[in-house]
Amino acid sequence: MEIKAQQTSVIDVACDVLIINLFEGVKIPGGATGVVDNTLGGIITNYVIKEQGFSGKFADTYVLDTNGKIPAKKVLIIGLGKQEDFDLNKLIILSSKMIRKCEGILNAKKIATILHGGGLAALDAKCCAKAITTGLMIGAYKFNKYKSEKQEDKSIDEVIIVEQDPAKVEKIKEGMANAKSVANAVNFAKDLVNEPASYMTPDRIAEIATDMKKIETRIIDEDEARQMGMGAFLAVGKGSSKSPVFIHMKYRPSKKKKSIAIVGKGITFDSGGLDLKPTAGMATMKGDMAGAACVLGVFKALIELNPNVEVHGVIAACENMPGSRAYKPGDILTAMNGKTIEVDNTDAEGRLTLADALSYAVDLNVDEVIDIATLTGACSVALGALNSGVFGNNRELIDDIIEASKQAGEHLWQMPMDEEYFEDLKSDIADFKNSGSRGGGASGAALFLKQFVGEIPWVHLDIAGTSIISKDLRENKKGPTGVGVRTLINYICS
Ligand code: BES
Ligand code: MN
Ligand code: ZN
Repeated sequence: MEIKAQQTSVIDVACDVLIINLFEGVKIPGGATGVVDNTLGGIITNYVIKEQGFSGKFADTYVLDTNGKIPAKKVLIIGLGKQEDFDLNKLIILSSKMIRKCEGILNAKKIATILHGGGLAALDAKCCAKAITTGLMIGAYKFNKYKSEKQEDKSIDEVIIVEQDPAKVEKIKEGMANAKSVANAVNFAKDLVNEPASYMTPDRIAEIATDMKKIETRIIDEDEARQMGMGAFLAVGKGSSKSPVFIHMKYRPSKKKKSIAIVGKGITFDSGGLDLKPTAGMATMKGDMAGAACVLGVFKALIELNPNVEVHGVIAACENMPGSRAYKPGDILTAMNGKTIEVDNTDAEGRLTLADALSYAVDLNVDEVIDIATLTGACSVALGALNSGVFGNNRELIDDIIEASKQAGEHLWQMPMDEEYFEDLKSDIADFKNSGSRGGGASGAALFLKQFVGEIPWVHLDIAGTSIISKDLRENKKGPTGVGVRTLINYICS
C-alpha cells in the first residue's frame, strides 16, 4: 500500500472512496466535509444527518454514492466523536478502522482522505499525518504467508492525503515519512511473532539481526557464552535440540548524545521446560520472543530515522524445552554477574535469560538500560491486553518512557517495586530462587531482574498481556501487536 500527499481539493480527487469526517453533534458540516456536502446538493446535512440520524459518534461510519457528481465514486463519512475528546491517539485508532472499512467496500483500491484533525480540532498537520499514516499501516497489516489458497485481495493499493494548502502538504509529507518507518517496524515485529517457532529459531533471529544493514552485530555462540559465564541463559536452552544464541547489535550515530541498551526476551518457544505448561498456556508460546521482535523492529527503524543516540540491542535467544538434557528444578545456576540462582520452576525461564542479557548490557557502560519481555502471566492477569506493565529503578526514566508511550499511542501502567516482593524469592542454598508464590508475580519477576542491573537507570516493560491479543482492540487487529516498538522509537528519537 502506497500512501502519499497531494495538493488538490476533495471535489477534484479521483478515487474509489473519499473519506471525510463529522464531529459529534455538528448539524451543518464545514471545512472539507462542508465542501463535499454543498457539491452533492446538501445530502449530508439534509439526509445523512437530519433524516438518517448520523450523529458523528466516534468511529461510526456512513457510506454515500456520489453518482458522478464528483470524481470520487463513494464518500465515507467517519464520526470523530466529541470535539473536546479528540486527540492524535483517537486519530490512529480511527485511521486503522477506516482502512479496514474501505477494504470491505467492494473493489476499493484507491482511496483518498482529508487530514482529519487539521480542521476544527486544529491539530498540527505533521502530527495528524503521522497519526493517520500509522493507523492506516497498522490497520492494513496482514500475514498470509502460510495460506495455501490465494487470498481474495481486498487490500487497498493507494491512499492519498488530500490538502489544499501547499505549506501543509510539506508538513504532511514529513509526518508521513516518519510514520512509515515506525509502522513498518511495528509490522515487521508482528511478522516475526506470527512466524511459527519451528521457523523462528534462535539461529534465525541471529540471521535477521546480522542481515540488518548499517548495524554492527556480534553473535556469541554457546561456547563463547559459557566462557563469558552466562550460566543462567545457557541452562534454559539445554533441553532443546536448537543451540542458544546471544546477539548484540549496535547502532552508531554520527553524533552521540547518549547511549542506551534495549534488551528483548528471546524465548523462541516456551514449553515451560520440565515444569511443562498445560495445553492452553502453551498455545501462544511461539510469541515468547515478542520482546526480541520489538528490539529488531526498533533497529529496523533506527537505520531510517538516524537519531543521535547510540543504541545497543541485546537478545539472549533460546528455546525452553523439556529434552533429556533440560535444566531441572533444584539446579543451581551462576549468572554472568556471579549471582547464584536456585531453579524453583523451569517455566520462570525468561528472567534467567534476562539475568545474563542485563548483566551483559550493564557491562557495555551505557547510560540507560530498557528491557522488554513477555515475562509473567501475572502481569497479563493484572492489566489484561490494555496496558503493558512498567517497572524500574529510576523515577525520571520511568516517567520519560511513560510520556513517550502516550505520545506514540501505546499504553503503559506503572507497577510496584517494593523490595518486600523479593522476600518470596529467598533461597536456603543459593543467593535467590527464580520464582516464589503467585501473588504479585509481575513485581517479583521485576525485582529478580533488578538484581542484575545494579545502579544504572533501568526500565522493565512486561508485555505478556499486550504482545498478542485475542480480539481486535483499539488500532490493533487480533494477533501480534508489535507492542513496544512505537514507544521505544519515540523515546530514542525525542
Ligand atoms: N512466557 C511466560 C509468560 C507469559 C504468560 C507470556 C502468558 C505471555 C502470556 C513466562 O515464561 C512464564 O511462564 N511465566 C510464569 C512464571 C511463573 C512460573 C513464576 C508465569 O507467569 O506463570
Ligand atoms: Mn515460562
Ligand atoms: Zn516465557
